[in-house]
Amino acid sequence: MSEEQRRAPLAAAMQAYAAGGARPFHTPGHKQGLGAHRLLQRLITPEGLKEDVSLMEELDDLNHPSGCILESETLAAELYGAETAYFMVNGTSGAVHVMLMATLSPGDEVLVPRNAHRSVFNALVLCGAVPVWLPTATDDRLGIALGVTTETVREALVAHPAVKAILVTYPNYYGIAFDLKSVAALAHAHGLTVLVDEAHGPHLRFSPELPPDALTCGADLVAQSTHKLLGSLTQTSILFRQGDRVPHEAVRRAAALLATTSPNYLLLASLDIARLQMAENGVALVERAMRLAEGVRAVVNDTPGLWCFGQEYMGRPGAEALDVTKVTVQTAWLGLSGAAAADILRRQYNLQCELADAYNVLFLLTIADTENEALRLAKALKDFAIRNRREAISRPTVAPLDIPPLCLAPREAFFASSEAVPLARAAGRIAAEEITFYPPGIPVICPGERISREILDGLSALKALGLRVTGPEDVTLRMIRVVC
Ligand SMILES: Cc1ncc(COP(=O)(O)O)c(C=O)c1O
Repeated sequence: MSEEQRRAPLAAAMQAYAAGGARPFHTPGHKQGLGAHRLLQRLITPEGLKEDVSLMEELDDLNHPSGCILESETLAAELYGAETAYFMVNGTSGAVHVMLMATLSPGDEVLVPRNAHRSVFNALVLCGAVPVWLPTATDDRLGIALGVTTETVREALVAHPAVKAILVTYPNYYGIAFDLKSVAALAHAHGLTVLVDEAHGPHLRFSPELPPDALTCGADLVAQSTHKLLGSLTQTSILFRQGDRVPHEAVRRAAALLATTSPNYLLLASLDIARLQMAENGVALVERAMRLAEGVRAVVNDTPGLWCFGQEYMGRPGAEALDVTKVTVQTAWLGLSGAAAADILRRQYNLQCELADAYNVLFLLTIADTENEALRLAKALKDFAIRNRREAISRPTVAPLDIPPLCLAPREAFFASSEAVPLARAAGRIAAEEITFYPPGIPVICPGERISREILDGLSALKALGLRVTGPEDVTLRMIRVVC
């Protein structure tokens, strides 16, 4: 580790300002805690309140950094092997918005996997680009949507030669990674900009046994949720840039357009400190998280009724490698949906998972966990499986539906006036809302798409299965919102 990486310039500048004792006649109104309510004083330490500072010259400007913020971002870029880094205080959603706003203009086509995160749909509304959806397969045994394949990208490039960029999610929530290196090389060969939503991968760079990180795979811009898996505060993410396909100025301009002019310095400093932590000890911390997760995985797989897939399940299209720190425990064979299992684990064992779907419960082992926590999780899962054995739940399979034709760009659909009509009368109309069932979490219909009879039948069939639905105003699906 370089000597430079041992510094935390932003945190140091805040400390120095607070220690200087300048009498505050500036924002924030609580004035370094002096006027803070006792509940806020309980929430944040006196030093934290003192360092909740603002736009003094020595504290730099997030939107035009030239001092301590620039230094901190430069250290982050160096650690991750990027040319530039941009601190984000609106999560990876904010970073995804910036990626699209910096690279696309209204009307440009962009390849996007159909199961992209909601922030991508929102970014399409903001920038006015037109999605060319990439279909993604669902693994029937896992009930999880996998990544894109080089073949699907190749086909899309033939059908849409004018496409400007590709945005992919890598790895997915469950840690499954596709062959991004090949996809990025193919996309670059066709002149596309490669944007990666690596929300779930800020730790990948710290172990050669994890899937390769997106920058190593050749991505041009990469959005990472530092807060999700590393040590920064919730809401903080980093956007990285490399190469010359996307100019630095374009990213800064888009970031400044979308960011607050009063970023919270405690949030920013937490990014600086999370980077320092990973520079100091990242390799060992990630190695420990992997080892603990593999230990839990082994116990789960030794427990009748439970299953946790590992690296041995990879090596299929859209699923080349696994981030083993994601422990996905399948409870369907026990006779419990993931949601029901998660509920029991919370109520009876006081364990809170990251997410639960129809078949699985996902646990994250991160840089924070030690032998104790891993052991507690493994023991609880074993006990839970012994006490909760039922009939295995059936796994309905629904034939995948074709992606409907796009009639209006997401931005046009967003601004169009709309009305709610009975589902049965919606054939031929253009959807004004998204409808997604879990599993597999792939939208059946998105705003701007034409609703066909086949889509209506598909929606009714999925609804009859009792799958969880997200997106529509009326989740009973009696009504659907369509463009007027
Ligand atoms: C794949 C993916 N991208 C982006 C996001 C948005 O991240 P954030 O919550 O930091 O805005 C999420 C959040 O869960 C996500 O799963």
